[in-house]
Amino acid sequence: MTSLKWWQIAVFYQIYPRSFADGNGDGIGDFKGITEKLDYLANLGIDAIWLSPHFPSPNWDCGYDISDYVNVAPEYGTLEDFKTFLKESHKRNIRVVLDLVLNHTSDEHAWFVESKSSRDNPKADWYVWVDTPPNNWQSCFDGDAWTYVPERNQYYYHYFMKQQPDLNWHNPEVKQAMWDAVRFWLGLGVDGYRLDAIGTVFEDPNLTPHTVPMNLAELRRFSETAQTDEEKKLKDQYWLDMFKNQYGQAGVHELMKELRAVINEYDGDRMLVGEDDNIDYMGNGNDELHLVFNFPLANTNRITPVHIRQNQSERIARLNQLAVEGWACNTLGNHDRSRIYTNYGDKLHDAELARLNAALVLTLPGTPFLYNGEEIGMTDYFLPHISQVKDTMGSWYYHTIVTEMGVDPEEAMFRTAEMTRDKNRTPMHWSNKSNAGFSPENVEPWLPINPNYKAGINVHDQEHNPDSLLNYYKHLLKIRKAAPALVEGDYIPLHETAEEYFAFLRKSEKQSVLIVLNYSEKRLELNFSKELTDKKLHTLFTSGVRSQVDRATGKLTIAPFEVFIAELKG
Ligand code: NOJ
Repeated sequence: MTSLKWWQIAVFYQIYPRSFADGNGDGIGDFKGITEKLDYLANLGIDAIWLSPHFPSPNWDCGYDISDYVNVAPEYGTLEDFKTFLKESHKRNIRVVLDLVLNHTSDEHAWFVESKSSRDNPKADWYVWVDTPPNNWQSCFDGDAWTYVPERNQYYYHYFMKQQPDLNWHNPEVKQAMWDAVRFWLGLGVDGYRLDAIGTVFEDPNLTPHTVPMNLAELRRFSETAQTDEEKKLKDQYWLDMFKNQYGQAGVHELMKELRAVINEYDGDRMLVGEDDNIDYMGNGNDELHLVFNFPLANTNRITPVHIRQNQSERIARLNQLAVEGWACNTLGNHDRSRIYTNYGDKLHDAELARLNAALVLTLPGTPFLYNGEEIGMTDYFLPHISQVKDTMGSWYYHTIVTEMGVDPEEAMFRTAEMTRDKNRTPMHWSNKSNAGFSPENVEPWLPINPNYKAGINVHDQEHNPDSLLNYYKHLLKIRKAAPALVEGDYIPLHETAEEYFAFLRKSEKQSVLIVLNYSEKRLELNFSKELTDKKLHTLFTSGVRSQVDRATGKLTIAPFEVFIAELKG
């Protein structure tokens, strides 16, 4: 695997700093806490961390509204604490990738404070200003996309909340200032960036209005109440139509090329992964982003063999079209999505499905990204009361539908608890002690702790249980490390019409590995005689008790929901 880059071999682990580990006992995660948990991560077997924003922020969007790009949020520690974290990560061979928010800053960033102060200050043109709202564009978080500023008697544009004004990327000074910030962290030794919302950086220059006959709150409500297939199709169309002029516009490729050139100034194979599923943003495979996420794999309520095969064939075909062959990148969970355990569960076999889906991400071709807490099976936690909601898009929605649409507060809370991203951002469960060992006993964590930490969903209990999900992840990560085909092997789907199981080979020059994921509750008798001609199966991993293979006939018995991984030996 020597010709592969580190980010092709690595398994990434996303840390949401506010919720990971509270080292100073103030109810909020911090660098001291993260640094103390690096041995845990090394032991888990991950190779790289994607750190969600750690910069100063008024936290209207939980850190994605940055008020200083070259500093550390005081609640997370100091720059020295960051440097210690980075050094200690590198000492353990764990790379660190930061979050880079290009589209917008916080409205409290000094750039915006200056920009909004008058029409002729030096930064007057750093954001997107207009005299009157030119269209009906919506902010995807809180209604109108144009917000009035009396000092300028003008409006500014924001794709996200009004506290997140869009930068004017047509202004070369903006680029210069942002690239300086990028260089600051690269100079400290970080290994790359996850790029936030790159599709939103540019807008349609003609400012074409959207054609959806409702505003954002109405569309959300319509989506919740859509019953018939026709209504459901319509709501999907409306979501696309509402934002199509504010998303994926010309200019992003050039910007990504510039950023790639900045990254390339540094040694050590620094990397970029885009929060977008559009493979076009990988350019020719060598001049824009190194990776984009395979979100289409995750964009379903049920992971099925048919869905996986379809997804892989489309993604791989597209990656292969790049002039320099592209590398895939798979994930099922992050801080914006319902947790894997909840999202892809069927309420009957959630534990089994969580294990299958973990195995899927860790065996498919491409770099896997895990989200903190998935390794212990953390679930969504639906907040019972609006006063607990921290995700401002959630509280905005609650208040809008209650006050403007007359929705009953109880129903509004139910909807809000489901849509807000707080549900998948609650603090990590380290033990079965009070506050799940995240914060000391008498401290109130910034978001409520999911009470199910007491029922074994915590690191301490699972470390001591050989059959736990945590030990399952550790085991799989070890297997992946030891099997080169699982990292560099080609993907060869088998039994392509099977609906109950997903079988495939990963085949490299050195090794062939068979993977069978049984997504059904049935014991299956499968025939791999073709693949097994002249070969023997050497089991690398099985989650079932009785996987057997009949060498003479190539028949393999797979237990319900079994994950079976075996090397084909000649
Ligand atoms: C995508 C981030 O993942 C999300 O959490 C954030 O709210 C938006 N971009 C805006 O920065």
